[in-house]
Amino acid sequence: MNKIKLFSGEQIPMEMHKVKIVQKIQLAPTSKRLEALREAGFNTFLLKNRDVFLDMLTDSGVNAMSDAQQAAMMLADDSYAGSQTFGRLEQKCQEIFGKRHFLPAHQGRACENLLAKVLVRPGSVVITNYHFTTTKAHIVLNGGTVVEAFIPEALQTTSSHPFKGNMDLEKLEAAIAEYGAHRIAFVRMEAGANLIGGQPFSLANLAAVRNICRRHGLVLVLDASLLADNLHFIKEREAECRGMSVREITRGIADLVDVIYFSARKLGCSRGGGICTDRADLFGALRELLPLYEGFLTYGGMSVREMEAIAVGLEETMDEDMISQCPQFTAFMVEELARRGVPVVTPPGGLGCHINAREFLDHVPQEQYPAGALAAALYLISGIRGMERGTMSEARDAEGNEVFADLELLRLAVPRRVYTLSQLTYAVDRITWLYAHRRLVGGLKFVEEPKTLRFFLGRLAPLSDWPERLAEAFERDYAQL
Ligand code: F0G
Repeated sequence: MNKIKLFSGEQIPMEMHKVKIVQKIQLAPTSKRLEALREAGFNTFLLKNRDVFLDMLTDSGVNAMSDAQQAAMMLADDSYAGSQTFGRLEQKCQEIFGKRHFLPAHQGRACENLLAKVLVRPGSVVITNYHFTTTKAHIVLNGGTVVEAFIPEALQTTSSHPFKGNMDLEKLEAAIAEYGAHRIAFVRMEAGANLIGGQPFSLANLAAVRNICRRHGLVLVLDASLLADNLHFIKEREAECRGMSVREITRGIADLVDVIYFSARKLGCSRGGGICTDRADLFGALRELLPLYEGFLTYGGMSVREMEAIAVGLEETMDEDMISQCPQFTAFMVEELARRGVPVVTPPGGLGCHINAREFLDHVPQEQYPAGALAAALYLISGIRGMERGTMSEARDAEGNEVFADLELLRLAVPRRVYTLSQLTYAVDRITWLYAHRRLVGGLKFVEEPKTLRFFLGRLAPLSDWPERLAEAFERDYAQL
């Protein structure tokens, strides 16, 4: 099911599931939200969930499980070694991805740690369609550097390019020529490229990347954490794939790559992660590290319940009704906001709605973290928690200088099967009000700045009393309604 047509001619996305279990949420008053924001050092990561109304921070580990997943969790076979649960998960991964070997890991970044330890050496280079924060951190930690080979449209916030996550083949060839194949640890394709707004690659582009890798003897790694969204977009936007089933497209992708790893906090709507490969040499090297960092080979840091949920979740991912939900609800938000003149990333991607903070707050310079300021401002006036995806999410260089992000985005994730259309309509309304009052929002500065992944735990302060003035304006306007 894609969209439902209404008699008015309008189309709306439709939930192809019904609610069986609910969690009560509450909307704290503005004054309480201002207090909570101060306590959190103006960093939405540090807010307490009890003060949050709609948690759109991430789609990681917060997707709604199905009844079938919950039922499977009850059948989990608890044992340190050789559990039947592991056998079921291994078999499901083998069936869906067609790779012989499966290694469990406690989440996506654990897979990245293992892969970087095995493949990256000091001086190594990893070429990617776009980096992800934790991936880059692991590569750098092992002495490597990341070379981005994105297409020009990737950084154009408004575009009609259907596959902004494609790799630029000329840049890939040029990087191989510049560094030499021997220095390239691997080429990494990220499905639903997270940091540019959940933007997909096409199957045709992946095939072309594969051909280049094969010619130069390079390992091709797929980060499949956001594969579900990418599958939906391939089916919807790539004419050659329209007649293929989701399962066929998945196998088409898997057959082109040497290694697949994923965060099951996203893919399969559960927790945990894993690595799949046919390469016996890589499998052997990774397997040696697994008991050291993750746990025994048949659980890898996951509970058996999580593993059962992944096995069922991966199977559910092969269903178009399931994988279209997040992209379509995202598209609803993007289209409604764009109609109201709010600068959003287009075309809509997966994962969630992305607001272009650089344009939204064009009076806040990059060194004052416009995307972080926008995240704080939106929470203050709505109780909605989004995530900064801009300069705050970058690390300073070796000399301590700011590295400005290519894009300053506020990400409003749409966790799968969680929020309803009325909740997204509320979000659209409050963002629209904020856009009309954007000049009231000012910048932020760090007051506590961790060296690694500073966006998680860093504390900031506003550069003026803008939060108080914004809260007053909001209260005044909505009190009149
Ligand atoms: N790769 C991608 C593309 C991701 O989006 C993430 C996590 C990871 C790897 C790491 O996986 O969290 O299980 O260790 N993204 C989360 C997010 C954190 O909010 O976008 P993990």
